Amino acid sequence: PESCTLIPEGWRFDCYPERGVVVNEEMCHKRNCCFIQVAEEKSPGQNGVPWCFYPPDFPSYELVTNNETEMGYRGKLVRRQKTYYPNDIETLQLDVLYESDSRLRIRVTDPAKDRYEVPIDVPVVKKKASNPLYTVEFTEQPFGLIVKRKQNGAVLLNTTVAPLFYADQFLQMSTSLASEFVYGLGEHRSNFLHDVQWNTLTMWTRDAAPVELTNLYGVHPFYLLMESDGLAHGSFLLNSNAMDVVLQPAPALTWRTIGGILDLYVFVGPDPSSVVGEYLEVVGKPAMPIYWALGYHLCRWGYDSSNNTWDVVKKMRNNQIPQDVQWNDIDYMDRALDFTHDPVNFATLPDLVKDLHIHDQHYVMILDPGISSTQPAGSYLPFQEGIKQGVFITNSSGDLLIGKVWPGLTAFPDFSNPDTHEWWYQNLKTFHDQVPFDGLWIDMNEPSNFLDGSVDGCPSNDLENPPYTPAVLGGSLRAKTVCASARQKLNSHYNLHNLYGLMEAKASASALKKLLKKRPFVISRSTFSSHGVYSGHWLGDNRSQWKDLYMSIPGMLTFNILGIPLVGADICGFSATTTEELCVRWTQLGAFYPFTRNHNTKDSQAQDPTVFSPAARKAMTEVLLLRYSLFPFLYTLFHHAHLSGHTVARPLFFEFPRDLKTYKIDKQFLWGKSLLVTPVLAPGVDYVVGYLPQGIWYDFYTGDSLVSKGEEIKLHAPLDKINLHLREGSITPTQRPNTTLWVSSSQPLHLIACLTEDGLAEGDLFWDDGETIDTYETDQYAYFIFRLKQNTMTSEVVHSHMEATYITVETVSFYGLKKGPTSVTVNSQEASFIYTTNQVLKVYDLGLNLSQNFTISWV
Ligand code: GLC
Repeated sequence: PESCTLIPEGWRFDCYPERGVVVNEEMCHKRNCCFIQVAEEKSPGQNGVPWCFYPPDFPSYELVTNNETEMGYRGKLVRRQKTYYPNDIETLQLDVLYESDSRLRIRVTDPAKDRYEVPIDVPVVKKKASNPLYTVEFTEQPFGLIVKRKQNGAVLLNTTVAPLFYADQFLQMSTSLASEFVYGLGEHRSNFLHDVQWNTLTMWTRDAAPVELTNLYGVHPFYLLMESDGLAHGSFLLNSNAMDVVLQPAPALTWRTIGGILDLYVFVGPDPSSVVGEYLEVVGKPAMPIYWALGYHLCRWGYDSSNNTWDVVKKMRNNQIPQDVQWNDIDYMDRALDFTHDPVNFATLPDLVKDLHIHDQHYVMILDPGISSTQPAGSYLPFQEGIKQGVFITNSSGDLLIGKVWPGLTAFPDFSNPDTHEWWYQNLKTFHDQVPFDGLWIDMNEPSNFLDGSVDGCPSNDLENPPYTPAVLGGSLRAKTVCASARQKLNSHYNLHNLYGLMEAKASASALKKLLKKRPFVISRSTFSSHGVYSGHWLGDNRSQWKDLYMSIPGMLTFNILGIPLVGADICGFSATTTEELCVRWTQLGAFYPFTRNHNTKDSQAQDPTVFSPAARKAMTEVLLLRYSLFPFLYTLFHHAHLSGHTVARPLFFEFPRDLKTYKIDKQFLWGKSLLVTPVLAPGVDYVVGYLPQGIWYDFYTGDSLVSKGEEIKLHAPLDKINLHLREGSITPTQRPNTTLWVSSSQPLHLIACLTEDGLAEGDLFWDDGETIDTYETDQYAYFIFRLKQNTMTSEVVHSHMEATYITVETVSFYGLKKGPTSVTVNSQEASFIYTTNQVLKVYDLGLNLSQNFTISWV
C-alpha cells in the first residue's frame, strides 16, 4: 500500500528483527507489516534498511485515561489488538514522574501483576519538580509521549514514531533522536560517537575478546546526546534484561528488551557534564579511589612463580621505574582454585606481599567466580561451605548448576543472595590471613562459562527460548554462560544475568572494607549501571596492535560518561606480542588512563618496562613519573567525580559543546577541563596532528603558547614524548614525583597557572590521607582554591585539615605572562623568580605551607 512506500527508509522501524531470518513478503504480511525489499538482503549479523516494517496504523496502545497526580500523571494504556508475540499485556499503567527540574521518569508497568524490576537503589522522589526544564505532551490514539526542552522546543523524546510493544517477553519503545550525536550505550567496541546507520547495540554481558558489533562484558542502557546547538540531554532505560538498542538514520533509537518493565529516565542537562551528573544522581556516583589505585600497576598472565613475579618488582625498583601495585593472574592459585595459592611455585607469595608493603607498594590478585566442584571431600572449604550455606546458583529444578571455568567443573556463587556475600567475605578473610593482599581483580564475571549453559545443557522453556532473542553473540542466551532459566535467590538468571559482575563487585567492595578498613580497590570485567560506586573496570582482552591502542580511548571515554572513571585498557596489549615502539606509545597513552595497568597473556613475551632497550625504558619511566607528578590534579578530579558525578578523562566536547568539530574527536581527550592529551597512535611517526579548540593552549613542558582558532595543528612527537597542552585560565597542581605514590604524595607542590588574555586563572586541590573511607562525608579532608587576577595569585584554604600541613608549595609557574615583572612578593615578602622569553614566570624556593592562605603578586 501507498502508506508503506511513503515511509522514508531511515524511518522504517523493523517489524522482523529476528537475526539470521531472511524475511519474505508472506512472513511479513503475517505480522501485518509493510514489505519493501531494498538493496541486498541483510546477511545474518548485519544491519540494514529493514524490509519488513511497521505501517503507520500498526496497532499500538491507546491512552484511555490520564490523570494528574502529585508527581505528574498516571494514565491507563489499553491494547485492543494482539501483537505477533505471545502474552501481550493488554492493560498497562503509565506513570510520568517529574522527579526534578532536569529529570523526568516514565514508568510503564503491569497494574495486575508485579513484574521484575532491577534491584538497584534509585532515588524515590516525593515532591514534583517546581520548575522543570521540559514539557510533556501525550498522544492518545495511538499512545505516545513527546518531551521537549522548554527553552527552545527541542524534541528530546518522541515515542509516537513507532508502536509500543509490551508483551511478557518483548517490550519495545522507539523514539526519534534530536541529532545523530549519540554516545554511551556500553559496552561495545566502537568509535566514541556511535554510528546511527542501522547499528544494533546488543546488551547481554559476555566474555569475548572485544570486536565491533557484539555484546561485550558490560551493560549500560544509557545514552548521552548532543543537540547540534551545544545543548545536551540523555536517557536511561532502567532494565537489566537482554536487549537490543537499535540506532537508525532517521535518526531514531529503539529500546527492545525481553523482560522487566519500561522504566525510562530523561535527563535534560542542559550541558553534557550535567547530563552525566543527572544520570549518576540516579544510579550512584563513583567511589573515591584509594590513592595507590592511581599509580602504575603491573600484571601478566604467566609469571609462573612468585619468585619470577618478585624479580620483576625488583627490576622495576632497580631501574627506578614507578610502580605502586604488583598483580598476579590465575597462576598464583593452586590448580586455579580460588582462595588458594600454589604451595610450590608460589610458596614465597606471602613474603613477596610483605616485601611490597615494606616498599610502600601493594598487591592485587585475580579471583574468578567459578568455584571448583570436583575436589576430594573435605579438601576444599570454599565449595564445601558454599554448599552448606546454599550460596550457589541452581538450575531450574533446584539442583546445583555446574559449568566449567579454569579449574575445571565449577559452581557459580549467587551474589544476589546476602549469604553469599558473607561466605565471600569469610573466604577472603581466611585467604588474607595467608596472603595479605590489598585489592581484588574480579574477572570472568559475566559470568563466563566454557560450556553453554551447564554440563547438562539447559532445559527447554520460555526463558531459554524466548519468543525473541536479541542479537547476542552465539545466538542464544546461554552461549558461554549459565542457563537463563537457572535460579538465583532474587530472581531468574534470565533477569539477573547482566547484574552478575555488579553484584560480585558489591560483595567484593564491602568485604574489602570490612577486612582492611580502607577504601576498597576492585577492578571488574563485567559491569552494569551504578558499577562505579563499587569498582573500576578494565577494557578486557585487547590485542597488541595499533588499532587497539586507539580503541582504548573511546572505551575509556565511554566508561567515564557511564560513571566508571577508574578505567583503562591493558597497556601494550593483552594478546599477541607487542613491539617496543607500540609499547612505548601505549605506556605514554596509558599514563593518562585513569587506571594504568600493563597486562598481557600467557605465552606471550614479557612486556613490562624493564625488558626493553634503555631508550624505551627511559621514555616509559619519564611518562610514568609525569603521571605521578600530576597526582594532585588527578586525585582532585576523582574527588569531583565522586562528589558531583564529573568525568575524569573527558571528551573535548564536554568543554567546547558549541564546537561541532569536537563531537567526533576520540583520538584526543582531556583530563578535567584543562589538560589536553594528544597521543601518537600510529607507528613510525615523529609527529601527531591534533585539534586545539579555540583559545590559548600552553605546552605543558615548556609553557610556550599556541593560539588556536579551533584548528588542527601538527605537533612534534618523537618517541620519548606525548603532547600535553594546558588550557588558558587553568591552575594545575603538580608534585615532585617519586617511584611510589606513597613517597610522591608527600613531596612539594608545583602549581602551573595558565593565563587567559586577561591574565586570569583558577584551579583547585582536594587533599586527604588517601585511604580513609568517606573522608569528604566525614569532614576529614582539605580543599583549596587557587585564583589569579590582576597580577595576584591567592591560595585559599576553603576547608582545612591536618593532612595539608605536611605539604608545601615550592614553585609556581605562570604561563603566558606577557611582561616580565620587576619584583615578585609572596605574602608581602620579596621572592626569587625567573622570567623567560617565552613568557613564563617561575617563582621558586617558596616553602609555603599548603595549610595557610598565601598570596603571590608582582609588579
Ligand atoms: C581473562 C581475562 C584476562 C586474564 C585471563 C586469565 O581472559 O580477561 O585478563 O589474564 O582471563 O585469568
